[in-house]
Amino acid sequence: MNQNMNELIQELNNHPYYSLYFKTMYNDSIKIIYIENAISQFLKSIVSFNTKMEVFQFENPLEYLNENEKKNKVFVQFITEHKKGKMGKIVNICGNCHGDLTYGNKKFSTNGFVDTSTEKGLYGVTLKDEDIGLLKVPTLRNIKQTAPYMHNGSLKTLEEVLRHYSTHIRKVPTKNLSSEFKDAKGNLILPKLNKKDIAHLMQMFDYMTDSIYLNNEDYSNPFENNFSWDNYSSKYYLSNQK
Ligand code: HEC
Repeated sequence: MNQNMNELIQELNNHPYYSLYFKTMYNDSIKIIYIENAISQFLKSIVSFNTKMEVFQFENPLEYLNENEKKNKVFVQFITEHKKGKMGKIVNICGNCHGDLTYGNKKFSTNGFVDTSTEKGLYGVTLKDEDIGLLKVPTLRNIKQTAPYMHNGSLKTLEEVLRHYSTHIRKVPTKNLSSEFKDAKGNLILPKLNKKDIAHLMQMFDYMTDSIYLNNEDYSNPFENNFSWDNYSSKYYLSNQK
């Protein structure tokens, strides 16, 4: 990270295989533009689209379940109740911000977690008062795998996050607090989560987990299990071109 690029090129050239990889891919010697291109292509290929929640984008999700999912009564009931809007206000509230395909959205807003006496959020960039305490709404995809939570990692479990929503939302300047957490007069309201809401949300976090993505070997640490560059390269038919 933050390495001098010429040093990096030298290091890659000293590696037994990298110059071969670049030659195979770009038909040229190692250059900064190819390094940038290779890294960006790799990052762009890391996409999660295999959660159980994926079917919720369809009007009639039950039609899209595979045989195993159809037998999963809990899941079928979850979908049915959810689509009928029977999961209650709370989940709709969450969906206002965590509602797009990433289970986030592209906006800045505040869930009241920032302590604006010490942190200013988006205001730090724009210097506009209405941005005090606003943060980018994070994705909830694979959220069960990404503890600790919130921008400063200070909440260790999802239960703690739910407790925050239920009881701890701070009065980030009230005018900046998102409308989900205010009444018509602008007073703070806490979305009190009962046991059923909590169980439902925890189940939903399960369904937001994409195990195909999480277990994809292409994105796991290659340097495990007696890794050797020779084996790795022959696996991809590269070493015989050396
Ligand atoms: C007004 C928008 C908004 C609403 C409504 C909202 N959130 Fe959030 N949520 C956020 C923001 C912004 C953050 C980032 C807060 C931080 O990092 O300090 C966040 C963070 C989270 C996180 C932690 C994510 C992480 O990677 O650390 C979880 C889990 C979460 N929200 C779940 C929920 C649930 C469940 C509800 C409904 C009870 C909900 N949110 C309602 C905006 C919202």
